[in-house]
Amino acid sequence: MTPASRLLAWYDRHRRDLPWRAKPGEVGDAYHVWLSEVMLQQTTVATVKGYYADFLNRWPKVTDLANAPLEDVLKAWAGLGYYARARNLHKCAEAVARDHGGRFPETEAALRALPGVGDYTAAAVAAIAFGEPATVVDGNVERVMSRLFRIETPLPKGKAEIKTRTATLVPRDRPGDFAQACMDLGSSICTPKKPKCLLCPLQPDCAAHAAGEPERFPVKAPK
Ligand code: ADE
Ligand code: SF4
Repeated sequence: MTPASRLLAWYDRHRRDLPWRAKPGEVGDAYHVWLSEVMLQQTTVATVKGYYADFLNRWPKVTDLANAPLEDVLKAWAGLGYYARARNLHKCAEAVARDHGGRFPETEAALRALPGVGDYTAAAVAAIAFGEPATVVDGNVERVMSRLFRIETPLPKGKAEIKTRTATLVPRDRPGDFAQACMDLGSSICTPKKPKCLLCPLQPDCAAHAAGEPERFPVKAPK
């Protein structure tokens, strides 16, 4: 068994049913995935659920969001914080409507070129909505991978190495599930303090666990 196959088998048993997640075996809707990923960058899953439902009720398609007055979008965003993100959200919806006929482009590179879409969001939408084997690394994934590979290079410099090592694991058949499995593992099992290594599907592969020092990773540069 490879680390990816162990992780996917765990995900198939423990997968959380979240409103933006597609049914097992299906890929997500790009608008839904993008909206949820932007919201989740600053807010917990529990808080995002309500905002996500309100946004989709009000603006069912990305073109509806594009046509909405910016003020309405900013008002609906109130409470999520970082208004620059709401402005970018609206700009991005306008670009999808205007430049792409109302459909999100399907490659990581083309997604990255949209306003306000950074490396993380481009990779997440490409993998989760379009099945492209993109490498999705957020804070949770950073922690899991730095432990799995016992990466000694301190953050932030170590980010590049973490991304390269993660890329070697991405399974071509289920890149979106793999990304979300890594995130779920990082939030529920491979936690910053007292990770639950005994319950972890990656335990047989994990270098930090073998060395008895998971909490030492990710190594951070002194401030
Ligand atoms: N955090 C950010 N994106 C997520 C996702 N797709 N699943 C679970 N947690 C997340
Ligand atoms: Fe994290 Fe422990 Fe699993 Fe390693 S074995 S990935 S440290 S939970």
